[in-house]
Amino acid sequence: METQTLQIDSLWVVALASKLAPLSSRNIAILLVVLCLALLGLALTYWNHPGGPAWGRYWCRRVVCGGRAKVIPGPRGVPFLGSMGLMSGLAHHKLAKAAEQACAKRLMAFSLSETRVIITCNPDVAREILNSSHFADRPIKESAYSLMFNRAIGFAPYGAYWRSLRRIAATHLFCPRQILDSEPRRRALAAQMMSVISSFGGNRFQPREIIKGASLNNMMSSVFGQEYDLNSGSEEADELKGLVEEGYGLLGKLNWSDHVPWLAAGLDLQKVRFRCSRLAPKVNKFVGRIIKEHRNQIKYCQKSQDFVDVLLSLQGPDKLADSDMIAVLWEMIFRGTDTVAVLIEWILARMVLRPDVQSKVHEELDRVVGRSRPLVESDLQSLVYLPAVVKEVLRLHPPGPLLSWARLAITETTVDGYHVPAGTTAMVNMWAITRDPEVWDDPLSFRPERFVSGNAGSTEISVFGSDLRLAPFGSGRRVCPGKALGMTTVNYWVAHLLHEFEWVRTGQDPVDLSEVLKLSSEMANPLTVIDDI
Ligand code: HEM
Repeated sequence: METQTLQIDSLWVVALASKLAPLSSRNIAILLVVLCLALLGLALTYWNHPGGPAWGRYWCRRVVCGGRAKVIPGPRGVPFLGSMGLMSGLAHHKLAKAAEQACAKRLMAFSLSETRVIITCNPDVAREILNSSHFADRPIKESAYSLMFNRAIGFAPYGAYWRSLRRIAATHLFCPRQILDSEPRRRALAAQMMSVISSFGGNRFQPREIIKGASLNNMMSSVFGQEYDLNSGSEEADELKGLVEEGYGLLGKLNWSDHVPWLAAGLDLQKVRFRCSRLAPKVNKFVGRIIKEHRNQIKYCQKSQDFVDVLLSLQGPDKLADSDMIAVLWEMIFRGTDTVAVLIEWILARMVLRPDVQSKVHEELDRVVGRSRPLVESDLQSLVYLPAVVKEVLRLHPPGPLLSWARLAITETTVDGYHVPAGTTAMVNMWAITRDPEVWDDPLSFRPERFVSGNAGSTEISVFGSDLRLAPFGSGRRVCPGKALGMTTVNYWVAHLLHEFEWVRTGQDPVDLSEVLKLSSEMANPLTVIDDI
């Protein structure tokens, strides 16, 4: 079929060339100028439409076909490229401002060159998008496909394969029993963090690398069954850390080729394709070796099951090819490490800035746990104030301010009364929702009391996706499957870090709450502190 199209195309070119042959070079030049002007005119017509060129093209075609509908408001951006600039740097800030300016907080349309996008800063419209079966897919991202993520949960197209992966992960990695059983590992890692931190002996240090290391080791242990010690380090853990960081860089980047097809055809201006082609074989080798080791161990010894063993034991229609297994395992490490570590650093930063809140957490921990025994995970059930602190930090610093990965309209649908065509990318600006004075009282103040029931004006709210005023884990079919595991880890480790230490700012390093948006939104300048026992 493709060859046939190619032949027809070349015939067309030959026919045109034979018609042009009798023309003088001057006439050919005039014809080309007219053609360019016509193309420019068309591009300007598309661009001169609310939402910019991609929306203009869609609506022009639709009008030709006789269709009419209410037009979604939004910025036009620049001809050809649309609003690419909105997605660079702190995209969540820029998009919130653009929505405000276009009076389109409920629903705004914009173009990323040829990609049509809608975005909402409103909890009701967010629910409509995230909980709709029309938006159960993810847009295609070249880097995700090159790194095999299309065979893992996060980017797998909505369908039987994705459903089966979610079921397997829900049963064997994220179920309450599994989370409970993995407590000893989290406890051991918490103890290692305490020991590393104590070794600074009251000198200034940056907790980021310690927390990231613990988070990576935690995922390595539950997914690969590999245990590493934070104190001694390991070449293998360092290698994985490098691979994960390179992956974050690639997936978090706005890749122009995803939106400008003529760039995707051959050019790789940002070197994303090149870097992916170097990273993918390294990941294959690293994870492939772990799978091989597990196959041998299953034959020769009995050991407790990790997620690799679970995937290897699947039979029948659930059985996965090795390449799919690599994608699933790699994604779990990838997703589970960064989000947890980023959130803990934000929590510590807020504690340093607000010693009054920190001392309330200390009081609560002293009352519930005391000083004579170590904290255990079941203590979390008796804590009220600390979970409120975590929620308040999730509100002000959601790790995925745009919910990390967007959704894609599988079929045409209606959102907030507007027609949305199939193939449109949909985003939720959770950061804007959680800072909206129409949604939250005094939204910019850090006030954990708003989540402590019984306090005046407090709100009972679950962060797990049922209430879109605060849904840092997303909502609907594609909601984060690791949400309970993530929250347990964050609450437990933060409780440990605050039970053992008082976190104090140093004389020379101010706590800077500026953000940088990579795959997650993290502190632009790492927190530097002194710990006080
Ligand atoms: C504080 C911790 C975490 C936060 C804030 C977070 C946030 C998110 C968000 C916003 C999404 C997109 C949801 C949507 O489209 O509605 C997501 C998806 C996902 N998360 Fe998490 N996450 C966290 C922890 C974890 C952990 C610990 C794991 C696994 C070990 C994990 C695995 C995933 C996966 C596999 C997806 C893709 C789901 C799908 O497309 O079906 N996450 N997460």
